Amino acid sequence: MDEAQFAVLAADELIRRLPAVSPRLGVATGSTPMRLYDELARRSRVGELDLSSAVVVALDEYVGLGPRDAQSYASYVRTRIAEPLGIAPGNVVVPQGDAADPERAAAEFEARITGVGGVDVQIAGIGANGHLGFNEPGSSLESRTRVVLLSDRTRSDNARFFSDGIDGVPRRAITQGLATICRAGSILLLASGTAKAEPLAAALHGPVDVAVPASVLQRHADVTVIADHAAAALL
Ligand code: PGA
Repeated sequence: MDEAQFAVLAADELIRRLPAVSPRLGVATGSTPMRLYDELARRSRVGELDLSSAVVVALDEYVGLGPRDAQSYASYVRTRIAEPLGIAPGNVVVPQGDAADPERAAAEFEARITGVGGVDVQIAGIGANGHLGFNEPGSSLESRTRVVLLSDRTRSDNARFFSDGIDGVPRRAITQGLATICRAGSILLLASGTAKAEPLAAALHGPVDVAVPASVLQRHADVTVIADHAAAALL
């Protein structure tokens, strides 16, 4: 399966699961789903898809970055998802990374997710360290939205997005908790590349354990995994 086929399959699986009216879509903001969002934008442009009434909900945000910072997930969601799909800014739910009080921003984000009625379908990725959202290894499986410290592994994995490398990567983030993520009606877990083979196998076939936060998905009743050959190599 090449990258284009991966995106088409992910888009088909996503749309099949989304309710026709006012869908609430949970979005991951890493590299893996970028081609999926491009595919959704393409379908929207040619009139095959109308997600303009959707509410989009992010998984996480860096503490210290505001919506005008190019590396913020608010910026990612706006430019790659909301604007191409014609979704109004008021229907975009992202933690306020530049809030003076991040703990309060986390609580407000969790309340907003509840306020929109929760997420119908959550698009998720998996970190090379098994993280889900920014729930790093050691995160409670019952965790709710909160401020977390990013691991060195995550900061170095994400340094590629920052012009000044790892020094530019914030040390903290606001993330939906593992229990928060698991409230979504269904979850579409996307994985590509060899770096994801071990964490994906551990998450799906290993014990449900805080050492591999994504293993919490074994407790969810409706998870679909889309993986390329490299990421699926150890399954
Ligand atoms: P990636 O991130 O899609 O950029 O690999 C996944 C993640 O860290 O959850």
